[in-house]
Amino acid sequence: MSLAFRRFFILLIPVAFVCYLVSCNTKKSTCVVLDVAQKPFEKLSDYNFFAGVMNELKPNARVIAYDLNTPLFTDYAQKARFIYMPDGKTIEYDTTKVLQLPVGACLIKNFYYQNDFREKAGSPKRIMETRLLVHRAEGWDALDYVWNDEQTEAMLEDAGDIKKVSWTHYDGTKREADYFIPNKNQCKGCHWNNSTSITPIGPKVRNLNRDFVYDGVSENQLTHMAKMGVLKNAPALPTQTPKLATWSDSVNYSVNDRARAYLEVNCGHCHNPKGPAYTSGLHLNLENANLQNLGFCKAPVAAGKGTGNRLYDIIPGHPDKSIMTYRMASVEPGIKMPELGRGLVHQEGLDLITRWIAEMKPEDCKVN
Ligand code: HEC
Ligand code: HEC
Repeated sequence: MSLAFRRFFILLIPVAFVCYLVSCNTKKSTCVVLDVAQKPFEKLSDYNFFAGVMNELKPNARVIAYDLNTPLFTDYAQKARFIYMPDGKTIEYDTTKVLQLPVGACLIKNFYYQNDFREKAGSPKRIMETRLLVHRAEGWDALDYVWNDEQTEAMLEDAGDIKKVSWTHYDGTKREADYFIPNKNQCKGCHWNNSTSITPIGPKVRNLNRDFVYDGVSENQLTHMAKMGVLKNAPALPTQTPKLATWSDSVNYSVNDRARAYLEVNCGHCHNPKGPAYTSGLHLNLENANLQNLGFCKAPVAAGKGTGNRLYDIIPGHPDKSIMTYRMASVEPGIKMPELGRGLVHQEGLDLITRWIAEMKPEDCKVN
């Protein structure tokens, strides 16, 4: 071998090693493998989002766990959510809209049922799905990976499905449900940006402003992301940042704040002036301050079975006469609200909205 050749090889070894570290293109590494210009992997494990045994959902490098103050109800499924941020990219702090994640980022939402909800986190569970929103150069792509019964792998599926699940509930009762796996079109039904494109929903500053336990240490999620260098220009203190109420926390929040947070997250992604339910004129997003658009003494746009012969979406003081509670208490297609994503009644959510309406100053709406 000539000297020049030998020099070339000696140089090549460190270069190859550095490339290996940066691109993390091996399954054994602790790095995520995601090229948003490529078509999606068939197998969830190929992304390498999780370290070690995949079903323990332990995040790899640059995969940041988060939780929400108020989440979406989906038949009592428990969730483990993560943001994957590509190296060197950042997110600008913004309280006016959902955080604008860079191209190359991915949101990861795992749906599971612990066998017994009374056990602590990490006890035996069945993971149903891992849903991804991948930020490609041309926009967000929605992908669904359905877990096998052995809990070793999840495969890409577009068609949707229904699976039986059972668990022991917080109150010790045995529960079961027909667990609903949405098809690709249904993702768009909720993650609606406009009729052709989709958007993330949950990662808004106010809903992220809470603590999370990272490796045994509790820290505010926004502070954690700022310290990682991922979130830019966030105020120094979480108290300087807006905070969405926790819908179930009756100690720290008023019934009104809890109800508005519940409606924002469970209904507001469709019921807002630009959402798929905008024609109803019922705007349940947090920003809406107009009482009639919130449903007060508002007649529904469509008569028929979705009203239960009730006249207004909300009659203050009268939950039993309001369409809102009627539709939340139904599991029938064409009546139930939300119209997608649940087969069971969310009793605790319905109780909250019932109490909210009951505590309003009673009013007899005028028919006009
Ligand atoms: C019934 C409405 C609904 C449907 C259908 C739905 N989502 Fe979502 N999704 C939400 C809401 C609301 C949130 C935010 C609240 C939460 O995470 O609890 C969310 C959160 C997510 C997240 C976490 C990031 C974010 O946007 O908050 C991902 C990833 C996701 N969904 C992917 C999907 C995919 C993929 C599908 C289709 C297979 C889908 N979703 C179908 C309503 C829906
Ligand atoms: C996936 C989108 C979607 C979600 C989520 C959703 N809705 Fe709706 N909603 C619609 C659509 C579309 C209509 C109009 C058609 C109809 O009345 O069925 C509607 C209509 C309604 C109406 C009748 C409004 C009127 O004045 O005509 C009420 C009340 C209602 N929804 C309540 C709720 C509540 C409460 C939630 C959350 C707990 C919710 N919806 C979540 C899509 C949605």
